[in-house]
Amino acid sequence: MGKTALLIGSSGLVGSHCLDYLLADEYYSHVEILVRRPLAVEHPKLIQHELNFEQLNEEVSKIKVNDVYCCLGTTIKIAGSQEAFRAVDFTYPVEIAKLCRANGADQFLLVTALGANSNSSIFYNRVKGEVEASISKLDFKSIYIFQPSLLLGKRPNRRLGEEIGQSISKWLSFVFKGPINKYKPIEAKAVAFAMIQSAKTQLQGTQIIESSQIQAIYTT
Ligand SMILES: NC(=O)c1ccc[n+]([C@@H]2O[C@H](COP(=O)([O-])OP(=O)(O)OC[C@H]3O[C@@H](n4cnc5c(N)ncnc54)[C@H](OP(=O)(O)O)[C@@H]3O)[C@@H](O)[C@H]2O)c1
Repeated sequence: MGKTALLIGSSGLVGSHCLDYLLADEYYSHVEILVRRPLAVEHPKLIQHELNFEQLNEEVSKIKVNDVYCCLGTTIKIAGSQEAFRAVDFTYPVEIAKLCRANGADQFLLVTALGANSNSSIFYNRVKGEVEASISKLDFKSIYIFQPSLLLGKRPNRRLGEEIGQSISKWLSFVFKGPINKYKPIEAKAVAFAMIQSAKTQLQGTQIIESSQIQAIYTT
């Protein structure tokens, strides 16, 4: 009997790669996803839970899995306010983590971002730091926190700022050497790959995996 996984954020850039890897990997016997709208993906291993994220308790308290993958996220622009951003990037991941831990999950894998810091004066970095801190306090056997730099990959909906950033950094990729290597943009696929590989190592405690380490896991 293989391991079981719950994935949140499966329609997103990192999450969709994560879903592909999880479904293809024999290490997992089944994969459950939480979605606002059903995904047009059919697979014998896949169970979709369509739900309102404002009422996670009812659905998530029934889910029993080994590993929880969280690739949730939004932007303040898309969410419409700092409060709405915080709900997606902090409240939902923490609520899901608590419910899954209470139901016996052993591992939690979370994507935050380079610069995550609960003491930061920058709101985005502060929320990312706060979600890391809150989840790290839960008594999972293993917690893996991935801190990617700017993500590379094709999105269904355009994000102009990110596209400009991606183009500039592709041109300047030779600059990201030595200590600033962690700022080098990274393929979303590499983040997803590193998440699945890390889950298999089952290291005890909390591991922080910076962008350059994510890249190393992907390329070695
Ligand atoms: N973009 C970057 O360059 C960058 C850099 C570093 C770190 N990160 C972080 O990396 C993580 C993954 O990023 P990504 O670019 O792969 O994310 P993404 O493509 O924007 O996907 C976000 C996921 O979160 C879900 N989501 C958003 N708002 C939601 C809501 N209100 N309720 C329920 N689900 C909601 C989306 O579902 P729907 O399809 O239902 O909207 C989607 O599955 C995020 O935490 C992000 O902050 C991003």
